[in-house]
Amino acid sequence: MAKPHLLITRRVYPEAIEALSPHFEITDNQANDTPTTKEGLVAAIGQADYLFCTVADKIDADVIAAAPRLKMIATGAVGFNNIDVQACKARGIGLSNTPDVLTETTADFGWALLMATARRISESERYVRDGQWKGWAFDQFTGVDLHGTTLGILGMGRIGGAIARRASGFNMKVIYHNRSKAQQEYGAQYVDKAQLLSQSDHLMIVVPYSPATHHLVTAADLAQMKPTATLVNIARGGVVNDVDLLQALEKKQIRAAGLDVFENEPALNPGFLKLDNVVLTPHIASSSRATRGRMVMLAAENLLAHVQGQPLKTPVAI
Ligand code: GLV
Repeated sequence: MAKPHLLITRRVYPEAIEALSPHFEITDNQANDTPTTKEGLVAAIGQADYLFCTVADKIDADVIAAAPRLKMIATGAVGFNNIDVQACKARGIGLSNTPDVLTETTADFGWALLMATARRISESERYVRDGQWKGWAFDQFTGVDLHGTTLGILGMGRIGGAIARRASGFNMKVIYHNRSKAQQEYGAQYVDKAQLLSQSDHLMIVVPYSPATHHLVTAADLAQMKPTATLVNIARGGVVNDVDLLQALEKKQIRAAGLDVFENEPALNPGFLKLDNVVLTPHIASSSRATRGRMVMLAAENLLAHVQGQPLKTPVAI
């Protein structure tokens, strides 16, 4: 019997190809690993029974319509805002994501970005590399402390909880705001959004992106924050209004930001590049080799489960 056709949009690890190839006829992007375009996806997906995509592929209704045989999509990410879930539902197309396996690595990175931002690591490193360092001084690259301050978490899900847990080592007070009041974990205290904004010394954004969280943080919200505050976004660019954030940073309405995600990534508002009080990273919060390997294998296991008529390991409820 002919094997079902699987389209894999980007390069994945060899262990996944090894596990998948006995069960699927694979078309992939192993050689070039070029980012997909809508036209490219529409052209490539016509014969696909299965799709293995990434957070960077926009799987909209047109792409889904171009795949009349599509039965299931496995995205190698926890977030699935790039996929038209309603279009999947209308066609009965299954969807899986990769929760849990990236929680701890992403929380580690949230802290790394927070520390880099609060303590001006990137800015001072650029200074050293540029050969500008002529000697030690008391007021050189003075940052703000993390220990003993208040950490605010916007979005208390799995990753928010893992971030909160790490705060105890820094003796921080942790407050959070969420759509629903999460369990009182790790001593984190639920507050309303206004309290979160005004009381946080450091604000970590980890809320999933959806129409409900689009531009959840705008100029009016940033205006409520402390002028000494740090904002870190490891969720999705669209949660924060980029233009408003840029203005708040330019005006020093808040002190600094660490951004791993951007509204139209990989494009980003060029204004951010001009500012020293921003640390910019290319959507790498889950990027340790071990975790990216687990994400890829979990996506592969979901595909294998579907093709073998078994329940998906980590289905997205749609
Ligand atoms: C990354 O952003 C993910 O959703 O896994």
